[in-house]
Amino acid sequence: MEKLTLRDLAGPIIKSIDSFNFLLKSHHRRTTAIAYQLGKQIRLNNDELFELVVAASLHDIGALSIHDRDQLTQEDVITPLPHCIMGSCMLAPFAAFQNIAQIIRNHHIKYYESLQISNKKAPFQSHIINLADRVDIFLSHDSHNPNLKLKTMNKIKANVGTIYHPKVFNAFEDLSGTDQFWTEINSLDISQIFLRIDSDINFELSLDNIVDFSLILSRIIDYRCHFTAAHSYTVAHLSGLLGEYFGFSSEKCTKLLIAGYLHDLGKIGIDPSLLDKPGPLSDQEFNIVKQHAYYTGQILNELNSSEWFLEIITWAERHHEKSDGSGYPYGLDDSKLDVGTKILAFADIISALMEDRPYRKKLSIHTAFEIIRNNMASFISPGMFQTIERHGDQINELIIKCQAHTLEQYKISTTY
Ligand SMILES: [Fe+2]
Ligand SMILES: [Fe+2]
Ligand SMILES: [Fe+2]
Repeated sequence: MEKLTLRDLAGPIIKSIDSFNFLLKSHHRRTTAIAYQLGKQIRLNNDELFELVVAASLHDIGALSIHDRDQLTQEDVITPLPHCIMGSCMLAPFAAFQNIAQIIRNHHIKYYESLQISNKKAPFQSHIINLADRVDIFLSHDSHNPNLKLKTMNKIKANVGTIYHPKVFNAFEDLSGTDQFWTEINSLDISQIFLRIDSDINFELSLDNIVDFSLILSRIIDYRCHFTAAHSYTVAHLSGLLGEYFGFSSEKCTKLLIAGYLHDLGKIGIDPSLLDKPGPLSDQEFNIVKQHAYYTGQILNELNSSEWFLEIITWAERHHEKSDGSGYPYGLDDSKLDVGTKILAFADIISALMEDRPYRKKLSIHTAFEIIRNNMASFISPGMFQTIERHGDQINELIIKCQAHTLEQYKISTTY
């Protein structure tokens, strides 16, 4: 495995997720550009600044529905806590993001509330994101107003010492006199900002780190509704297990695990109300949902400068292809589909059939295998499916374990 640092991985992926985000397109980028400039003005040290920009670039990742989005884009966010807790719980499995999760947990904290708790509970960076976030929302509400900058400044100024931290406001006031500040809100790019900060938190990643980072990305999609809360997690672990049956090396099985975590990442670009629609999708809706596989490829292709990721990207973006060329997004035929792609495709189908959906209950492994044997295996690989069927008991046990583990974690994220 080639050397990869945290920002080599996180920078391009987070940037790409932001640009595909159906709910909050570019909000993370702009908030990060504002927060970064504020953090520099306040002279945070490099580690604090690095944590600030990573937290800013993911701060609303716990907003999962159109309802959440509509709340957060109001001038006053009435119930901010659910998306703050959800966001911080999503990041929890990645040890390097512990402080970042805590910053996100508190990114709507009011200054007067923070006076009653310790700095550790409400890190200072949370206050920077709080103000940066509101500046972006105020700017986007009134974008044609010629006095927009002044109006935004006045709205913030009216709440200094109550909602906003005075130190953060002072930095904002100082910066607001320069054209550079306002221009950079729209021109700074997330991965560019990551590259500007030379922090020790930007450490060299181990294989385990990459797995944990992929797991937190999978939660962004899986946690959008309780029906899919265990999906990518199960696909990931099942793919790793199937890899063993087909003689893959341990490193290749880990790549399958990562591809499983990331295979549906493109769903970030799809209207979430289509993903948990409690009935059949119209043709037009299905065509929209199908785009997720293409988006997965687009998002992950930001990593294609790293040779190590090429197989992972290929498997992930092709998980809905079929051997007769009738799949999507590329309509590739059997000659272009390797064993890894087929493993992921089988893991995806088996996991999905064994999960509850709004329109049906979860199926037993026996029924799921019967459906696949009769209707689906010939589109992927009947021979491979025969091998998979021989391991039914072990697969069943793994899926039950994955679902129980993830649903427990998901429940914690939705408890407030
Ligand atoms: Fe927020
Ligand atoms: Fe926000
Ligand atoms: Fe998919």
